[in-house]
Amino acid sequence: MNARFGFSTLHSAAVIADAPHPEPVVRLRNFVRRFGPNTIIDGLNLEIAPGEFIALLGRSGSGKTTLLRTLAGLDEVRGQDVEVPGSRAVVFQDARLLPWKPVWKNVALGLSGDNARDRAEAALKEVGLGHRLDAWPLTLSGGEAQRVALARALVREPKLLLLDEPFAALDALTRYRMHDLVLSLWRKHRPAVLLVTHDVEEAIALADRVLVLDKGRIVAQERITAPRGERASFAQRLREKLLSHLGGDDHGDGVVPFPIAEAAE
Ligand SMILES: Nc1ncnc2c1ncn2[C@@H]1O[C@H](COP(=O)(O)OP(=O)(O)OP(=O)(O)O)[C@@H](O)[C@H]1O
Ligand SMILES: [Mg+2]
Repeated sequence: MNARFGFSTLHSAAVIADAPHPEPVVRLRNFVRRFGPNTIIDGLNLEIAPGEFIALLGRSGSGKTTLLRTLAGLDEVRGQDVEVPGSRAVVFQDARLLPWKPVWKNVALGLSGDNARDRAEAALKEVGLGHRLDAWPLTLSGGEAQRVALARALVREPKLLLLDEPFAALDALTRYRMHDLVLSLWRKHRPAVLLVTHDVEEAIALADRVLVLDKGRIVAQERITAPRGERASFAQRLREKLLSHLGGDDHGDGVVPFPIAEAAE
């Protein structure tokens, strides 16, 4: 444990045996995903609590997007023990907007009811784009397009928000602004979040829990209890620790079980 640093390494269920166990919104048990002869996810267990913010790190090709696609319901998981909420939304690295529809219609896509435009407008205002309702997607900057994608995800008030490297293509300053935006939206709407990222600093700055995926399993997880904005004092130490797992160091049998924990903030 590193309690005085504001984070703790979860080695077993006993670590937080006394913590309350809210009913998880996501539960995977012994999940396996193969492509032909290649086993990408190999007996993975994962629970995510309501409102919990999780960051998922892992080397390129380790299966992060594969896992996210499963949670999004984009891939077939017949015969597997996978529980996800009905209401979930995904934001990918590219905003994937329909170029022939104005911004507000991209956000309102699939919404039913007379108030679809009003709901889209409210969501776009939340991401600071209330003035671009009728703009065409191709006239947006990368950061603006990602904000539209966030608005499109949040307008449905999902219980689970899946983010696959949503800030990777943005410049550093825009990325920091997006961090603030995502946190403020998360605080307001309280979805559970799974953020896939290659950026260890981003993971430490945003998440309640950071997971490292390697060889088809979660090989490390760190729970961060310090408030966001007060993590600088231990960030370097935690960063080194996470990087050592990402670098594939030998950590014994290395596989971490998944006790569920309540969101910290
Ligand atoms: N539909 C598919 N068919 C065959 N192989 C696939 C398919 N989708 C993913 N894979 C393989 O599964 C492995 C994991 O891919 P995945 O996209 O999940 O990795 P990732 O961790 O998201 O990587 P990155 O960080 O580069 O985005 C890769 O070897 C990839 O080639
Ligand atoms: Mg990926």
